[in-house]
Amino acid sequence: MNLIILGPPGAGKGTQAKRLEQKYGLVQLSTGDMLRSEVASGSELGRQAKEVMDAGRLMPDDIMIRIIGERIEQAQREANGFILDGFPRTTAQAEALDAFLAERGLEVEHAIELRVDDEALVDRISGRFTCAKCGEGYHDRHKPTAKEGVCDVCGSTEFVRRADDNPDTVRARLKAYHEQTAPILPHYEKAGKLRVVDGMASIDEVARQIESVIGRS
Ligand code: AP5
Repeated sequence: MNLIILGPPGAGKGTQAKRLEQKYGLVQLSTGDMLRSEVASGSELGRQAKEVMDAGRLMPDDIMIRIIGERIEQAQREANGFILDGFPRTTAQAEALDAFLAERGLEVEHAIELRVDDEALVDRISGRFTCAKCGEGYHDRHKPTAKEGVCDVCGSTEFVRRADDNPDTVRARLKAYHEQTAPILPHYEKAGKLRVVDGMASIDEVARQIESVIGRS
């Protein structure tokens, strides 16, 4: 099963993709995580990505299409399918993905859109933090660690907050979503693949809705 998870910054794409990954043996392919690894490695691509991400803009399509293509091929060899989280983000990326998959006899079964109000997104993003060791995601109020200051998954006591999770960058990221990414939703609607989920519900309820729309509840 191959899925796309779509929605604005902070909609819960990563949170839900991780659950789907564990439950169905899929691989989460997060282009944001891939770029953050490049930034951490200090590569030339990472230097470019840092500048673009800190400004809340999008990376060039050709770079993103190349990166995701390599990772999809790897996922096909190693897992039951993939969940694209953060890709495609433009019409050019959506069209390139269709062509790439068609050439390999692959397809995406469901494009899940998480719908969340802009005001809720700012709250979610400003409260987000992640375990520095295993990457588990948390939120100050909506998903705190069970024991304060200790990761539920790996027991680490070190956490990080993303550099682009500040009010100015969040506004720019939301603008980029509405101008460049939301216009691809009709592409999946026309193909009969768009499944809209109420992303304003609790994390567990959103997960239940996703399982229902993909026919796996
Ligand atoms: P990326 O990393 O993809 O960021 P994003 O799309 O802005 O999404 P986020 O990771 O911020 O949010 P999310 O929807 O995953 O929410 P999460 O689950 O963490 O991209 C970063 C940057 O990389 C882009 O700005 C761009 O520059 C570049 N980039 C990436 N891909 C690209 C591409 N294809 N082309 C060009 N450039 C690209 O949840 C957020 C918080 O809310 C968490 O704390 C969570 O615990 C909490 N939460 C989640 N669900 C709920 C719920 N239902 N109720 C309450 N709280 C919740």
